[in-house]
Amino acid sequence: MGDPRRRDRAEPPAEAAPPQAARAVPEADLAGHRRRHRPAARPRQRRRAAVVRRRVRHLPLYRNATGDEIVYVESGTATVETVFGALEAKEGDYVVIPTSTTHRWIPTGDQPLRAYVIEAVGHIAPPKRYLSRFGQFLENAPYCERDLHGPGGVLLADGTDVEVLVKHRTSAGLVGSRVTYARHPFDVVGWDGCLYPFTFSVHDFEPITGRVHQPPPVHQVFEGHNFVVCNFVPRKVDYHPLSIPVPYYHSNVDSDEIMFYCGGDYEARKGSGIGQGSVSVHPGGHAHGPQPGAYERSIGAEFFDELAVMVDTFRPLELGEGGQACEDPGYAWTWAGRGPAS
Ligand SMILES: [Fe+2]
Repeated sequence: MGDPRRRDRAEPPAEAAPPQAARAVPEADLAGHRRRHRPAARPRQRRRAAVVRRRVRHLPLYRNATGDEIVYVESGTATVETVFGALEAKEGDYVVIPTSTTHRWIPTGDQPLRAYVIEAVGHIAPPKRYLSRFGQFLENAPYCERDLHGPGGVLLADGTDVEVLVKHRTSAGLVGSRVTYARHPFDVVGWDGCLYPFTFSVHDFEPITGRVHQPPPVHQVFEGHNFVVCNFVPRKVDYHPLSIPVPYYHSNVDSDEIMFYCGGDYEARKGSGIGQGSVSVHPGGHAHGPQPGAYERSIGAEFFDELAVMVDTFRPLELGEGGQACEDPGYAWTWAGRGPAS
């Protein structure tokens, strides 16, 4: 690693220099080199625009040295170039990028790239209960090795004095450094091991359904230190003749709950103003549930066409500037049908 030249806040610059071209190298071209090995592998806020829309065509090389990242692609397509090779990302993909993976996002196609980013402190993995003691997915897991897609051939890129933005920790907290490498970080011939970025499509998540309402853990897709990620996908709903398919009212005992509504029509909150791209925050201890009338409407339903990503955090959340700026103060009152006393 080169020496940090300057410390700055951990934010990408407004304008990024065009990337130096990287090209994929077929494995056959790597004869004589080590071969690549990829193993088989208070309810109160509703916010829009919490997702990131970047219009720049190229983003700089970046590395998050504080934890793994999940980038959920709501719309658009991109090539994610990494030191392990390139991934192709599309609508519905989770792109899981391990800590300290040097990479950059290059939007492709005509559609704007809209993404929802989950940054962990530490590592992200499938839930332990989906895995055997040998690390393989169990047969009752809602996805398996076949659904995980690693990078293609390694990239080769020429370049000198290549800048990489690094987010990392110091005794003063989180900082960002600009590190300049004498040679391009993608100038590699191969890699091995079990650590690599991958994509997983939410559309490959096989929903677990039942005669009566299934609890939230059946929707879990990943877990990290002090949080879990769940997804609500289109599915057949509860089929007991007396079942009520929408969820029961509840308050979280141990977690805050963030929902990102990214497709379909989320049945339980229909009529609340929730729409595509909305984000809701239901802090622990605050009761929430279906919109008034949703119970009655759901009786007899056989299928919900909804798509949402939920993060439950086991530590309280703070709201950032962006969240504060686009808060819908009326959201908390959508259950009551009235506003605060003036
Ligand atoms: Fe909830």
